[in-house]
Parts: sequence; structure tokens; C-alpha cells
Amino acid sequence: MDLKLHNKTALVMGSSAGIGKAIAESLIAEGVRVCLCSRTEESLQKTCSEIGAEAYVVADLSKAGEGERATKEAISKLGKLDVIVTNTGGPAKGSFADISNDQWFTDFQSLWMSVVESWKVALPSMKENNYGRLLLVTSIAAKEPLTGLTTSNGLRAGLAGLVRSVASEYAHAGITFNCLLPGYTNTDRLKALNLSDEKVKSMVPAGRLGEPQEIADLCTFLASEKAGYITAQSIAVDGGVLKGL
Ligand SMILES: NC(=O)c1ccc[n+]([C@@H]2O[C@H](COP(=O)([O-])OP(=O)(O)OC[C@H]3O[C@@H](n4cnc5c(N)ncnc54)[C@H](OP(=O)(O)O)[C@@H]3O)[C@@H](O)[C@H]2O)c1
Repeated sequence: MDLKLHNKTALVMGSSAGIGKAIAESLIAEGVRVCLCSRTEESLQKTCSEIGAEAYVVADLSKAGEGERATKEAISKLGKLDVIVTNTGGPAKGSFADISNDQWFTDFQSLWMSVVESWKVALPSMKENNYGRLLLVTSIAAKEPLTGLTTSNGLRAGLAGLVRSVASEYAHAGITFNCLLPGYTNTDRLKALNLSDEKVKSMVPAGRLGEPQEIADLCTFLASEKAGYITAQSIAVDGGVLKGL
């Protein structure tokens, strides 16, 4: 299938490692000119040359204004943006009583406001170009709360509402918004949890962890012209963990 992504441009956030890196690599394989983004210049340089990204931006998305600056810099490096994949590190762990007000603000900035800041910069030119793909890496926690991930459960559920709201404002302009909900996925972040095979089998109907590439494949399709009629959706890539609608 020709996804017609050749020479399109994309900013992929949280992309020096894990799911973001796999998404960047998959877009590049389809001929997309990609700008990476994360906090650490050294790992960005390494990933850039490893996967053939065109540019990178160093930004800490947990800080106010960084989503906006990263998006402006990506536009100036690539000339325009057709696709934005918002993604970042995992938020704080803890039950409601454990999470301080400051931590709520940090996670809100990181998971939410970095998305809003980025869209505000990119949408006017996407509208002019009559093409835009706004993809959000969130979590199955957006639909089914995960124990001990209070800020993730609360904030990511809200992002699905935001996507449903803005999608109808921009659908006429060829711009789509969709959330990707990873389940238990084989990245360094999850490897650190050292889950046994038995534990994985008990949690995941597919009986195995997901691979970052499996989220990247869906993301790349949704970034393409072929997916122009799919918007306002939240799609899990989770081996059957989520059972509800
Ligand atoms: N893996 C899973 O099983 C799973 C399941 C559900 C949801 N998710 C969510 O999916 C997202 C990606 O997960 P992952 O497993 O791919 O994580 P990961 O392997 O830890 O990679 C995270 C990436 O984001 C960057 N990053 C972290 N904090 C950042 C910040 N404040 N500003 C900018 N970049 C930042 C990291 O680079 P630097 O550290 O150099 O900045 C790295 O490139 C997370 O939000 C996670 O909660 C993951």
C-alpha cells in the first residue's frame, strides 16, 4: 500500500528511545522528514544518526512553553509540519494521597499543556495546507485506570475528550486527531519492572508484551493520506487488555 507519506514532515516528541523512537523510525522508512525531540542532546544525536532523522530539538516537555518552542523550532528546521506525534516520559507513580499539588502541575504540563502548546503553533499552517495529522501517544490508562498511576489515569482520560472536541472543529480542513493507547510495551521503561513471563501472561490475553513497532505501524498509517477519514478516535494497541467499549 502506498501511504503517500514521501516528503511529508513530522515532529515526534519523546523520540530518542522507546515508542517515540519506533514511530520516528517507521515514518522515516515511509520517506517522512522527521524532527526528533527529547531532553538529552547526546541521545538525540545518537538516535538521529542511527535512524536517519533530519533534525532534532532538545526540550523538556514538563516545563511551561517547551512544547511551543519545540514546535516552532521543528517548523524552522523542516520548513513546515504535516504530522505531530505528542509523546513524553511516563508521569509520576502514586495513589491520590501521594501526589502533591506541584506534581499534578508538572504532569499536567508534561502530558497536557505540551500538547495544547504544540497544536496552537502548528494548526494555522496545517489549516492553510489542508493537511494535518495530530497523533497522541497516551495509554490504556485513558480508558481503564491502572493502579498507582493516578495522574496518568486522570489526565489521559481528559485528553481523549479534548481530541473529540477539537476534531470536529478541524475535520473540514483535512486535519485529524487520534489517540494511540499503548498497553504493556517492551521498552526500557517496562523492562525496568522485570515482569515475569507468568505475570505478563496473566495480564495480557495475547500472552506477550507489545513491541514499540506495533504502535509505530498504526501511527504511521494514521499519519497518512489513507487515514484521512479517521478522526477523534482512541485506539488501543494492547493485545486484548482493554475489554470495554
Ligand atoms: N511502555 C509501556 O508499556 C507504556 C504503556 C502505556 C503508556 N506508555 C506511555 O508511552 C509513553 C512512552 O513510553 P516509553 O515506554 O516509550 O518510554 P521510554 O522508553 O522511557 O521513552 C521516553 C522518551 O521520552 C523522552 N522524554 C522523557 N521525559 C521527557 C520530557 N520531560 N520531555 C521531553 N522528552 C522526554 C525520553 O528521552 P529523555 O529521557 O532523554 O528526555 C525518551 O526518548 C510514556 O508517556 C508512557 O507513559 C508506555
